[in-house]
Amino acid sequence: MKLNKNGYPSSDTQFQDVMKFYTSYFEEKLQEYITKLNEKSADYISLSQASAYSLAAGGKRIRPLLVYEFCRVCGGDITDAVPAALAIEMIHTFSLIHDDLPCMDDDDMRRGKPSCHKAYGEATALLAGDALTIEAFDVLASSHLAPVKVKEMVKILSECSYKMTGGQVVDINGDIKDTTLLLKMYSYKTSQLIIASSLMGCIAANADENKKAAAYDYAYNLGIAFQIIDDILDVTSDKETLGKPVGSDEKQNKNTMVTLIGLDEAKKLAKEYTEKAMKSLECFENNEFLTMLTNILLGRKK
Ligand code: IPE
Ligand code: IPE
Ligand code: MG
Ligand code: MG
Ligand code: MG
Repeated sequence: MKLNKNGYPSSDTQFQDVMKFYTSYFEEKLQEYITKLNEKSADYISLSQASAYSLAAGGKRIRPLLVYEFCRVCGGDITDAVPAALAIEMIHTFSLIHDDLPCMDDDDMRRGKPSCHKAYGEATALLAGDALTIEAFDVLASSHLAPVKVKEMVKILSECSYKMTGGQVVDINGDIKDTTLLLKMYSYKTSQLIIASSLMGCIAANADENKKAAAYDYAYNLGIAFQIIDDILDVTSDKETLGKPVGSDEKQNKNTMVTLIGLDEAKKLAKEYTEKAMKSLECFENNEFLTMLTNILLGRKK
């Protein structure tokens, strides 16, 4: 594949080929990281094994993709997006491991395999989540990036991760009876890590404040659409396709956009938020890839 001077596929590359490039690029960097993690965890190898088990299980890698793409559309070099791409997937994976625990959603399957606590036991799964959270910041701190960029990324990642955790608290507390509170909860539990991905991509490329503001708006709205679709798939899909159990929300007696406004209205709302997200992309040149990705996420089946 022809790459440009910033290490990205050249502009005439087809969407699917760019997707493949990003995925294999990410998996290669992830494997390098896992090797290092195993080396430094010799005295407590189950910690790195459980972390690697969930990390490498293979998710859609949407958040790393957003880091790469925002860095690209802001004119950055792909190597500068690598630490943040890894870090955000680590935080996201921690959130999934903890989300599946019996004290949370109590789900036995994740990314097509037994959940971390099913494979390694609850205590190790809990600690693997801890390890991934801590390591995400080490990946940033140990990176080749200029200290000023690292500082800005650490600030964004910690703020957004804290709000994601807060969103999980609101979710677990239940008692969400109206769409206003539900949307607020989505904006915490799901939009925040998508915001962190997009903003860290901008930071990697030294983007200006206008671009960062547009990336924020994009990610906020995409996150809401993403969670509405997640709730829809929880009632319309099957576990083989999703790689995680369906009916999880009902089992936990949770109100979702589907229970509050019905399937058809929920689909309409996901489309509205997707369109709002797309509007923010107008601020970026070369936004074709992001536009296609955003559209594909609306129709996603998993
Ligand atoms: C699942 O996220 C949790 C939500 C915020 C809805 P993803 O659907 O991105 O999960 P993976 O990374 O593909 O497994
Ligand atoms: C989880 O929402 C969001 C997180 C912060 C992990 P869900 O509980 O609906 O995510 P899934 O459906 O288990 O992936
Ligand atoms: Mg949950
Ligand atoms: Mg869950
Ligand atoms: Mg869900």
